Amino acid sequence: MAVLLPLLLASLLLTGPAFAATYLEGLLPNGNFEEPPNPSTLHKTVIQGKYSLPKWEINGLVEYISGGPQPGGMYFPVVHGVHAVRLGNEASISQTIPVKPGSLYSLTFGSSRTCAQDEVLRVSVPPLSGDLPLQTLYSSNGGDTYAWAFRPTSNFAKVIFHNLGVQEDPACGPLLDAVAIKELLPPMPTRDNLVRNGGFEEGPHLLKNSTNGVLLPPKQEDATSPLPGWIIESLKAVKFIDSAHFNVPYGSAAVELVAGKESAIAQVIRTVPNKLYNLTFTVGDARNGCHGSMSVEAFAGAETLKVPFESKGKGGFKAVSFKFKAVGARTRITFFSSFYHTRVDDYGSLCGPILDQVRVFPVIY
Ligand SMILES: *[C@@H]1O[C@H](CO)[C@@H](O)[C@H](O)[C@H]1NC(C)=O
Ligand SMILES: *[C@@H]1O[C@H](CO)[C@@H](O)[C@H](O)[C@H]1NC(C)=O
Repeated sequence: MAVLLPLLLASLLLTGPAFAATYLEGLLPNGNFEEPPNPSTLHKTVIQGKYSLPKWEINGLVEYISGGPQPGGMYFPVVHGVHAVRLGNEASISQTIPVKPGSLYSLTFGSSRTCAQDEVLRVSVPPLSGDLPLQTLYSSNGGDTYAWAFRPTSNFAKVIFHNLGVQEDPACGPLLDAVAIKELLPPMPTRDNLVRNGGFEEGPHLLKNSTNGVLLPPKQEDATSPLPGWIIESLKAVKFIDSAHFNVPYGSAAVELVAGKESAIAQVIRTVPNKLYNLTFTVGDARNGCHGSMSVEAFAGAETLKVPFESKGKGGFKAVSFKFKAVGARTRITFFSSFYHTRVDDYGSLCGPILDQVRVFPVIY
């Protein structure tokens, strides 16, 4: 094993610069875990040896599993392909990839918990890390996909997924079924829109065959948000949705406010004090069976607007606007859903109103 690591690093160094020079998007090497460990390194499902899972390094008890019903009665959902890994108590897997220092990258990964207990998956690229509580199920088929972003300071990033939990039942612990990366472009405000990435067109990679959108975890700062320009506030996730699978009013993406008042998205924009601005945006439903009386609350400066929206879950939307006077040189604009919603066909799936095409521009008389 001692010779493997220098070889791996040498090959990364050789392929690194060319790989890193191009715009980067796609699965990590063996990112869907479909390249299996050699059967001789498997003890039942437990992988033996730090370098036995192709392209990855493992630490602790890591199982190589196939999706579906398991011996012992559990059911493991594997939405992206056939195979996945399960991280036992305090176990981790990692991979080192070439990157451009200073660029923003988002990781997209399919993960789900295996037991009813709280399970926390830590994703890190040292010294940065984020903890994803997996106790809230956003889709009851288990196919939740998450994004987390980082800005590397050197030419290589060590991507680590770590199960922080210590469960009594060692058969519990999160599953990881696909890991992809995308280099994100920094969005800029324009003359007719002071909001960066106001149409949510720049966002994390969408995994192939992923029909559930991508969850953007809570507490994301704008500098390292997987949704460039936007801050994800408070306790729960918001969902990044694509036009291939959802109703998206403009362009190819939007956000769905899936966690009521428990999650909000915000952005701080530059304004001129005492000047009047117009904030326009679109609310609607994602055509995912999310129905009922919805309401999106918007805040800008000292102004607020509550936008009611009656959803039949079939894909409607409407554009609204209001004006506000800037109080300072910076103004925070914030959006959240007033209520919780679940799908008409699936009470286990959280859903909510969608937000798209957010625009702020000066009012000229
Ligand atoms: C996507 O789904 C198709 C059809 O079910 C399947 O053949 C293909 O392997 C899937 N691709 C991935 C990356 O899971
Ligand atoms: C704000 O912009 C919208 C959309 O362009 C427009 O319909 C509305 O009249 C504007 N409001 C003000 C106060 O300028």
